[in-house]
Amino acid sequence: MISEKMQKALNDQINAELFSSYLYLSMAAYFESENWNGFAAWMKAQSSEEYAHAMKFYKYVNDVEGKVSLDAIEKPKASWKSPLQVFEEAHKHEIYITDRINKLVALAMQEKDYATNLFLNFFINEQIEEVSTVAQIVHKFNLLSDNKTSLFLLDRELGMRAQ
Ligand SMILES: [Fe+2]
Ligand SMILES: [Fe+2]
Repeated sequence: MISEKMQKALNDQINAELFSSYLYLSMAAYFESENWNGFAAWMKAQSSEEYAHAMKFYKYVNDVEGKVSLDAIEKPKASWKSPLQVFEEAHKHEIYITDRINKLVALAMQEKDYATNLFLNFFINEQIEEVSTVAQIVHKFNLLSDNKTSLFLLDRELGMRAQ
C-alpha cells in the first residue's frame, strides 16, 4: 500500500513525465518545420523515452495498489529562436525534473516508504544521464561556431541517435 500523499506525488510525476514527452514532441515539430530532420529525430526519440517514464510511474502506482489519476497536460511552448535555444531549454527542463525526482525521494524517506524509495533509484540514475547528455549537446553547440555547416553536421550527428 501507499500513502495518499505519496500516491498524489507519483500521480503528479506521471503528469510531469507526460508533459516532458509533449514538450519534446513540440520541440520535434519545431525542428521539422525548420527542416532540421536530425534534431527532430532526436527529439522524437526523447519524447518516446519520456512517455516510457510516465508509464513506469503508472505501472508502479498500480503495482502498489494505488490509483492512477490523470490530469490535463499543460500546453507546451511551440517556437524557439534557434536549435541551440531548444537544447538549452531541454537542459533546463531536465534539471527541473531532477529536482522533482529528488523531492519525491525526500518524501519517500520522510514517509519511510522503502519500496517507493527503491523504485525511484532508477530515476535518480536516469536523470544523471539525461542532464549530462543534454549538457554535452549544448556544449557541442557552443564549441562550434554558429554557421550553417556546423549546424548541418550537428543535425546529422543527433539524427543518428538510436531509440
Ligand atoms: Fe523523464
Ligand atoms: Fe527526461
